[in-house]
Amino acid sequence: MINGQTAMTLLANADLIHSAETVAAAVNRVARAITTRLHASQPLLLCVMKGGVPFAGQLLTRLSFPLDFDYLDVSRYGQATAGGALAWRVEPSLAVNGRTVLVVDDILDEGVTLAAIRDRLLQMGAAACFTAVLADKLHGREKPLQADFVALTVPDRFVFGYGMDACGAWRNLPAIYAMREG
Ligand code: IMP
Ligand code: MG
Repeated sequence: MINGQTAMTLLANADLIHSAETVAAAVNRVARAITTRLHASQPLLLCVMKGGVPFAGQLLTRLSFPLDFDYLDVSRYGQATAGGALAWRVEPSLAVNGRTVLVVDDILDEGVTLAAIRDRLLQMGAAACFTAVLADKLHGREKPLQADFVALTVPDRFVFGYGMDACGAWRNLPAIYAMREG
């Protein structure tokens, strides 16, 4: 966590990557794509804490077909751990067995987190596992998973806002910013 003054300085020195209007339009686009694909399958929408909250919340208000909602919370053991070892802080409390699941997260970076979540949900008996991310980071390296639904792409920089945090701050912004290098 950082204090309020440090958070203000951080934002003042950041670059705007996607405005609030651009993000809102992209979320609407994804909601339509999800509706086309999943409207008849009564999916279980799973929000990945905490970064997935704004995206999942806005999506929810734009999906007008029967679905269920739950959340999960994971953390990576650390950058050094290859192969997607995850610590599950909270597993979904609703049964995923036989369900079409839609996992909603903030950002697909290396893809390790989302790939491990998908593998675990399929192991738990999910019939199908779709993934939706607000942002796909363009870094040119192979990812173990491509998201089924992507709202926006972001450059290979540390981004924050709309669920994504910078040292714990600014998940609450309606737009997406990148920290300035150096
Ligand atoms: P991955 O396993 O590398 O795809 O990591 C994904 C997770 O790392 C996301 O759910 C975020 O919590 C975090 N993350 C990765 N890149 C960023 C970023 O640029 N800003 C904020 N969080 C990030
Ligand atoms: Mg996350």
